[in-house]
Amino acid sequence: MKVINIVGARPNFMKMAPIIEAMNKHPERIEHILVHTGQHYDEKMSVSFFGDLGMPHPDINLEVGSGSHAEQTARIMVAFEKICLKEKPDLVIVVGDVNSTMACTITAKKLGIKVAHVEAGLRSRDMTMPEEINRLCTDVLCDFLFTTDHWADENLMAEGIPKEKIFFVGNVMIDTLLKHREKAREVGLVDKEWRIKPGGFATLTMHRPSNVDDPGVFGGLLKALHEISRELPIVFPIHPRTRKMAEQFGLSHYFSSGDTVEGIWMTEPLGYMEFLHLNMNARLVLTDSGGLQEETTVLGVPCITMRNNTERPITCEVGTNFLVGNNPEKVLECARRILEGNVPEGRVPERWDGRAAERIVQVLLEKR
Ligand code: UD1
Repeated sequence: MKVINIVGARPNFMKMAPIIEAMNKHPERIEHILVHTGQHYDEKMSVSFFGDLGMPHPDINLEVGSGSHAEQTARIMVAFEKICLKEKPDLVIVVGDVNSTMACTITAKKLGIKVAHVEAGLRSRDMTMPEEINRLCTDVLCDFLFTTDHWADENLMAEGIPKEKIFFVGNVMIDTLLKHREKAREVGLVDKEWRIKPGGFATLTMHRPSNVDDPGVFGGLLKALHEISRELPIVFPIHPRTRKMAEQFGLSHYFSSGDTVEGIWMTEPLGYMEFLHLNMNARLVLTDSGGLQEETTVLGVPCITMRNNTERPITCEVGTNFLVGNNPEKVLECARRILEGNVPEGRVPERWDGRAAERIVQVLLEKR
């Protein structure tokens, strides 16, 4: 079986790494190549992850770069079509919900190539999110839908996807977390380099258009975060688009960046091991990301999700995630509750056990 594995943006790399590792155990049955669309291209947003995760470097980089959604999607499709015609794969594997996921799915399917989607069935029901559009378009076309929880299975079946195409395998992102957890403990960034105490800080990530593209919303959130940071310094590895928006709206004064970790302390985007080290030592995580809601649930760290909806309700149902929206008052109130120790302990969802990639490869070997 000849497979093309696709990665494009930062959250794809840690999902693809265990799949490649599991495929490498069957060299006689699976031949695979890795295509990077180049949606993310900065050292800190892309290159550094391959070393961190012990992942092979991409065989092919389409180097599409940034652009509007239509431009980026179209560029990926045009470039990937040529690769499909040349390589003639039996199967394309896509992960997550970024533009690269959808663009490669449409391209492959129109050439009659089977596609597997890993992390299928997640739904926020929020059509203002580009990721929701990507998820819907991808899932309706795919031949294999690998899911992380019962909600995803139910969503897919409610949309009329035949049960035979759906496989509840667990969470590949958690495969990677569990594999690197012990090593990440030793990184030494928190106590040695930054001289902060484990449990003595919060972590923040924020890059969603709904939070950072409107100066009123972005400014309101920063004000609340600043208030929290008086009690608990907040380490903020800033996404390039967030930095750009903060500069444009004149909000950069909220950030500190000196030698001492204090206030909302800004740093460059971090590598995988550094960021895992940070989150496992944090008292609290504040985010609008998708994957971080899952990672904090497994780490048992309270997470405040600054969004009105989540495609990962299992993290609220059984995990440590609190969905509060982007109302600054609600963010503050939830942070206070957590700092007072007023939170129930979470559980790890079923099959988030480090073996999801193995299950995926098993299904592909049996069913294809
Ligand atoms: C993308 C995903 C989002 C994911 C996020 C993780 C889509 C629709 N969105 O959003 O789901 O949570 O990745 O980071 O696919 N930029 C750089 N360097 C880079 C990459 C981007 O400076 O290496 C800047 C550019 O100004 C670019 C902007 O970030 O225009 C946005 O990048 P883009 O890939 O369009 O989307 P993200 O916001 O990163």
